[in-house]
Amino acid sequence: MNWKHVVSVRQFDRADLERIFEVAREMRVVRRYGGSRELAGRMMVSLFYEPSTRTRVSFEAAMNYLGGAVSGTESARQFSSAAKGETLEDTIRILSGYSDVIVLRHDKAGAAERAAKVSEVPIINAGDGVGEHPTQALLDLFTITEELGRPDGLTITLLGDLKHGRTVHSLARLLTRYGARLRFVAPPTLRLPGEVREELLAAGMDVYETEQIQEVLPSSDVLYVTRIQKERFESAEHFDAVRSIYRVTPETMRLAQQKMIVMHPLPRVDELAQEVDEDPRAAYIRQARNGLYVRMALLRLLLGGPV
Ligand code: NCD
Repeated sequence: MNWKHVVSVRQFDRADLERIFEVAREMRVVRRYGGSRELAGRMMVSLFYEPSTRTRVSFEAAMNYLGGAVSGTESARQFSSAAKGETLEDTIRILSGYSDVIVLRHDKAGAAERAAKVSEVPIINAGDGVGEHPTQALLDLFTITEELGRPDGLTITLLGDLKHGRTVHSLARLLTRYGARLRFVAPPTLRLPGEVREELLAAGMDVYETEQIQEVLPSSDVLYVTRIQKERFESAEHFDAVRSIYRVTPETMRLAQQKMIVMHPLPRVDELAQEVDEDPRAAYIRQARNGLYVRMALLRLLLGGPV
């Protein structure tokens, strides 16, 4: 492992991923037995300029389970000195003097990279606008591995807002480390950004895009559903035109294989019916729980002693 920050999934090779997952499995056991004191005396600052439930709370819980301390601010746009006009760079320079790691969620793509340039401590990208969400992709890939084994040879279908969905951008890039087949289902206005598609093709991935879920569902091993990212649309009309375009229901699940799993980074709105929760193939609650173990593993690897 020769990285100091977690900014983009591009930084991980296959050996890094296997190492993170091995530590995540250990962390599941540590959590079960009440945590450890391994990061006692260490401080994590969480700096969130955009809403979050899972990412922020699971990072803070992860640090606590390892005996570390937590500080920071949510709604940083209103509650931090950003409201007075302070630049991100200045805020990070100051906070890196108070802490050992900074978890940053920001509305602008590239913010984590900017922060990493000026920070004295590791920056963890917890989502940068429509850019990336690397720790989500790690927990997504960990979930696939735990549920179905290594992703090599699996058919993974990503559905919904592929244009704005940063979890999609990160997961698709991460899957280039494995020989998975990628199927992208979206309306023409919400297709995967050209830049991400190019990266996948350059890596030799088997990529197929369609608007029809029925076309690819029967051969899928994983269905990764995403929310239409309302906050990224220019106008309410544009959002209204696509808001209900897909909805995964028990009906939809009849077309899927018995061993397929349904994933979702959450929060869900209309795209995934509550009734699907009863289906044993619904993996999204287990997926969210895995976030805690993967984030404990990242903190352990970035801040702890040799493992
Ligand atoms: C995602 C995000 O913030 O990008 N949420 C998360 O971190 N689990 C997905 C979303 O907001 O739709």
